[in-house]
Amino acid sequence: MPDDAQVSWTAVDRYFEDRLNPPDPILDAAVARSEAAGLPAIQVAPNQGKLLCLLARAMGAKAALEIGTLGGYSTIWLGRAVAPSGRVLSLELSEAHARVARTNLDEAGLSAVAEVRVGPALDSLADIAAKGAGPFDLVFIDADKANIPDYFDWSMKLTRPGSLIVIDNVVRDGEVAEAASADPSVRAIRQLNDRLKTDARVSATTIQTVGVKGYDGFTLILVL
Ligand code: SAH
Ligand code: DHB
Ligand code: MG
Repeated sequence: MPDDAQVSWTAVDRYFEDRLNPPDPILDAAVARSEAAGLPAIQVAPNQGKLLCLLARAMGAKAALEIGTLGGYSTIWLGRAVAPSGRVLSLELSEAHARVARTNLDEAGLSAVAEVRVGPALDSLADIAAKGAGPFDLVFIDADKANIPDYFDWSMKLTRPGSLIVIDNVVRDGEVAEAASADPSVRAIRQLNDRLKTDARVSATTIQTVGVKGYDGFTLILVL
């Protein structure tokens, strides 16, 4: 049973979604198709997806890289931001997830804009770098959390000054502030933050968020 705070966060998210996110049968169908296929409902919230879209549009992004596709919900938001001339490359470990995502992207009219590549993201990133792809204007890191420091390193190789790197799920109910946490995800995020502290190549900030997905946060990293 959700506590009072969660009930309030959800009500406020729904309120703003009603006012600021127009009805969107395509996104609704993508969520429904993902759920029907048995995918976990861990996609970004509608306001977070729109934030990604607005950030990408504000910077005039033409090439976006996503690490962690799931059913392609966030991919659709990024695809819309860069369409029709831009491209999204989204990396996904699970063939089953990728199949659902490709259907969702197709139904969203984005199959020519967004490509889903299957495999461990670290392998795909090495391939992409070896082929000289990029630079990407925006990178959204939203896969397995223990690899976040490595995903950041690859992102630095695949971006340019002015690119933006966004990392999801960096607060995790506040656990990020627990220095003694044994959770590998928390430890990885803390390790990245220790490195960001002295990394003169970037300027970063973290925004804590509450809403339909509970208490979490985004880190935004500008490549200098
Ligand atoms: N960005 C999506 C949610 C991604 S959920 C959205 O907001 O709509 C995280 C995804 O990362 C899952 O689909 C999971 O299968 C994938 N994943 C986990 N480990 C991975 C890895 N090593 N390489 C690539 N993808 C991975
Ligand atoms: C969870 C949420 C996420 O946004 C994600 O990318 C991975 C996992 C979760 O709630 O477990
Ligand atoms: Mg996430």
